[in-house]
Amino acid sequence: MPLIRIPIVGLVAGQLASMSAPGFLSSVTALEHDPLIPAQAQIIDQRSFNVLHDVPPASEANGFTPFIPPGTTLESLLAQPFHIYDEQFLEIIGPNPTLTLLNHTDSDPIFHEAPVWYPAKDEMFFAQNAGAPAAGTGLAKSAVIHKISLGDITPEMSSKSNATGSVKVVEVNEMPDVVNPNGGTNYKGQLLFLGEGKGENIASAMYLVSPEPPYNTTVILDNFFGRQFNSLNDVSINPRSGEIYFTDPTYGYNQDFRPAPGLPKQVWRFDPDTGAVRVAADGFNMPNGICFSPDGGHVYVTDTGAAQAFFGSNFTFPSTVYRYTVDPQTGILHDRTTFAYISPGIPDGIHVDTRGNVYLGCGDGVHVYNPAGKLLGKIYVGGTSANFQFAGRGRMVILAETRVYFATLEAEGAFPGVLYE
Ligand SMILES: *[C@@H]1O[C@H](CO)[C@@H](O)[C@H](O)[C@H]1NC(C)=O
Ligand SMILES: *[C@@H]1O[C@H](CO)[C@@H](O)[C@H](O)[C@H]1NC(C)=O
Ligand SMILES: *[C@@H]1O[C@H](CO)[C@@H](O)[C@H](O)[C@H]1NC(C)=O
Ligand SMILES: *[C@@H]1O[C@H](CO)[C@@H](O)[C@H](O)[C@H]1NC(C)=O
Repeated sequence: MPLIRIPIVGLVAGQLASMSAPGFLSSVTALEHDPLIPAQAQIIDQRSFNVLHDVPPASEANGFTPFIPPGTTLESLLAQPFHIYDEQFLEIIGPNPTLTLLNHTDSDPIFHEAPVWYPAKDEMFFAQNAGAPAAGTGLAKSAVIHKISLGDITPEMSSKSNATGSVKVVEVNEMPDVVNPNGGTNYKGQLLFLGEGKGENIASAMYLVSPEPPYNTTVILDNFFGRQFNSLNDVSINPRSGEIYFTDPTYGYNQDFRPAPGLPKQVWRFDPDTGAVRVAADGFNMPNGICFSPDGGHVYVTDTGAAQAFFGSNFTFPSTVYRYTVDPQTGILHDRTTFAYISPGIPDGIHVDTRGNVYLGCGDGVHVYNPAGKLLGKIYVGGTSANFQFAGRGRMVILAETRVYFATLEAEGAFPGVLYE
């Protein structure tokens, strides 16, 4: 599809409403860039590939194979990276979404996981990939935390698709180290990180890190009745109770930097007020991302069992998002439903916007689902995004291993349970 940049001036709510009329998508699946579609967006009509005639077997097209719909190329998919699968996506991206590459490395995956926004300084913290051979992290040394200052990103920069080199990537030397950080969230004005641990003798742990120099660190949980967690992965705060819910898969073991697992792969909850630690849900292959809905009525947990790290992939295992109902009084999770199965890649990081739409870091970028579980669109980066994070309204940082992007859009991130004022 040719790149035709048509400036959209002041697309107003009324126009969006008329776009949502039934039949809207079918009326604009034209080859020309429709003036009602933002310049950086394109429609991907799933009907165009419901029948491919020549469908390759799983030995050729599996869960990690990029899918290039007929009539598109990798270049055309990247040229207009906001992919509209449903007209509701237009309300999420607004009239003028942008996607900007801010920095990249040759091979070191420093833009991997645990993005935490610190509103007071408008900084985004994030972690290097722990256990990735290209990083040399895991057993030999811990992955490190870096940050970027979003205040440094001018509108002129974000209007470009490539503003590489214009934002400093600063290493955060927290004291003492968060060992192999992988998950993070804001917590009562501080940063909360999960460390996967290292070897047999450095247990996986939950840390509070001061967002201000000297970035002093306090461990707040490192065991369950004297037993090490496997390798803590991701975390979300129940907005009704303030309790900390977190996942504990075995990726540290599957990546050769943690010993054989000694606990089931499950979701836990921790009440720092009483010290109580208990299981919240089990029955997973690899519980990974976790995020409460904005009102706390639901919690989403991803299972990335299809990816077994050094043990390879198994595409009969989940690449799946589950949703639970959260009991308002007890915080107990019930009514597990299968919310989404994604392709390509695995649904790793997960966040919600203020309207309850669900954003997932996947194999080709960020996928966006409505609360009914329908794919609305993608922010396409043409490679894996393990995680990403909103920075308030209309801004998002997307981590893609050796690349970091800044996106502007209409949606506002919700931060369930997080009081950062
Ligand atoms: C972005 O710009 C930098 C610096 O000009 C260049 O080295 C890099 O190849 C560009 N990246 C892409 C993806 O265009
Ligand atoms: C990425 O950021 C680092 C640190 O600010 C800088 O030294 C480097 O030149 C940047 N790399 C690119 C490709 O922009
Ligand atoms: C960091 O140190 C300050 C000053 O002693 C203290 O108030 C704060 O609680 C500490 N934060 C963490 C996460 O250790
Ligand atoms: C995937 O897992 C299933 C169920 O355990 C097993 O039967 C199958 O052999 C596995 N496939 C591969 C390629 O490992």
